[in-house]
Amino acid sequence: MEAHWETTTKATIHLFAIPDEKNEKNVIEIGSIPGMLSFLGYHDLSAEVRGLKDFPVDERPPVLLTFIAFRGMVGLGTYFILITIIGVFLRNRLVENPFYLKVMLYSIPLPYIAMELGWILAEVGRQPWIVYGLMKTSGASSPVAASQVWVSLIAFILLYGLLGAVGFYLIAKNAVKGPVANNDRHFTLNKNFM
Ligand code: HEM
Repeated sequence: MEAHWETTTKATIHLFAIPDEKNEKNVIEIGSIPGMLSFLGYHDLSAEVRGLKDFPVDERPPVLLTFIAFRGMVGLGTYFILITIIGVFLRNRLVENPFYLKVMLYSIPLPYIAMELGWILAEVGRQPWIVYGLMKTSGASSPVAASQVWVSLIAFILLYGLLGAVGFYLIAKNAVKGPVANNDRHFTLNKNFM
């Protein structure tokens, strides 16, 4: 996650970097905070943190993808916190702030992207192990033919694609109708709803 190559004390965290796996170093490092990685790992600013070079090459995960997935996920998480704080301040004036509402609307896909990045981080970042130190992923795969995997993958894509389309259709149908006020559903625009 941190593209930390050398074993050092006072280990540095980089807000952004471009890891070069072939040459076992980072090409660019931006926003480096000395000691922060030691602190995050061991609650001690000068603790020693083992670097990737201390691990055999075939026991290292793909560093670039893990590093970027983590930065993307945390960047989005930070963005969510910020827009939520802004929303708290604007809570009684939301209707007068179409820009904020638009930002929120266009942000709807972002938590899904953050989840995918988190999943990539967890799955790619633990390679090559499926059980750390005991069993590698390569030793844990079942002897299943590629054709069988394709059949179940395509079946899942079709089934969930269909469910997704139905869900989207139903949501869109109700959204187009707009707010409804009748005996069953009381929908009033209350400026002080929070
Ligand atoms: C805000 C800062 C965030 C931090 C510091 C953070 C931290 C982490 C870490 C350390 C992991 C790896 C856990 C592991 O496998 O060892 C992880 C995984 C994950 N994160 Fe985040 N995360 C953040 C935001 C988010 C957000 C906003 C989302 C989604 C909306 C998200 C979704 C996930 C998911 C789905 C996983 C994979 C869980 C799994 O499969 O085990 N994270 N996160």
